[in-house]
Amino acid sequence: MELKAKRLEGRTAIVTGAAYGIGYATAERFVAEGANVVIADIKGQEEAAERLRRPNVLALQIDVRDDDSVAAGIARVLEHFGSIDILVNNAAISAELRPTRFEDQLINDWRRVYDVNVIGVFRMCRAVSPHMRRAKWGRIVNLASGTAFKGAPGMLHYIASKGAILAMTRSLATEFGDDNVLVNCVSPGLTMTESVVAADHIMENFQEFAMSSRVLKRSATAEDVANAIFFFASADSAFVTGQTVTADGGSVFH
Ligand SMILES: NC(=O)c1ccc[n+]([C@@H]2O[C@H](COP(=O)([O-])OP(=O)(O)OC[C@H]3O[C@@H](n4cnc5c(N)ncnc54)[C@H](O)[C@@H]3O)[C@@H](O)[C@H]2O)c1
Repeated sequence: MELKAKRLEGRTAIVTGAAYGIGYATAERFVAEGANVVIADIKGQEEAAERLRRPNVLALQIDVRDDDSVAAGIARVLEHFGSIDILVNNAAISAELRPTRFEDQLINDWRRVYDVNVIGVFRMCRAVSPHMRRAKWGRIVNLASGTAFKGAPGMLHYIASKGAILAMTRSLATEFGDDNVLVNCVSPGLTMTESVVAADHIMENFQEFAMSSRVLKRSATAEDVANAIFFFASADSAFVTGQTVTADGGSVFH
């Protein structure tokens, strides 16, 4: 069998929220493709890096809500690997949110969700920008959600935050184009990550509906989503920017 070349050799990628779930699967795929990978998370990052058992993996505690934490993390990545080529904005508050009718949602919960899911993405993009612009090469991949296309009850704050990601992806692409920094988005449907499987309210209320609304009648794995993220990080997407791919088994046609 012909050996496939490692397609991210020489690239350094930061994956936020990479200790678990889709972020971890993405980190694992990037490592297999030869990238230097930073597992950036607020918890579990050391254990995740240990599981990957590779020298080109760096675990860092980076809290996307905190400017100082992000700045220190970026400095450490540059010191360790010398560049930042790929950023995957995966960290989010999601499965832990209990469905709550919108009239009962608290302003503080909206702020908490936006601080991670929206402002966290802005903060990370702003932090990597000078390095990617200088290199005239960069790939940013954001994570949205099928719920931003379809709507769903009880999750207005989360869904609004993911709608913002769709819009930010397009707008950031226009700002970064001159410097060959491409910004794209992957929108998963319900995906069986640890946090989803552990959330009874999701498994009971949404799993059946998610399966029945798909063309491909099976559960989605974190690897299914990581594959789409990898496409946007790789050279194969060199003329694609501002786009969103729905990696959801054919539930949303976008
Ligand atoms: N799993 C799904 O069904 C699904 C569906 C649609 C969209 N998504 C999106 O895909 C992404 C990953 O989903 P998942 O299910 O793997 O999520 P997850 O909850 O398993 O992982 C999210 C990670 O983000 C980290 N995180 C939270 N706050 C952080 C912060 N302030 N700074 C840094 N890291 C932080 C968490 O520690 C965790 O490791 C999220 O953006 C989510 O909204 C997931």
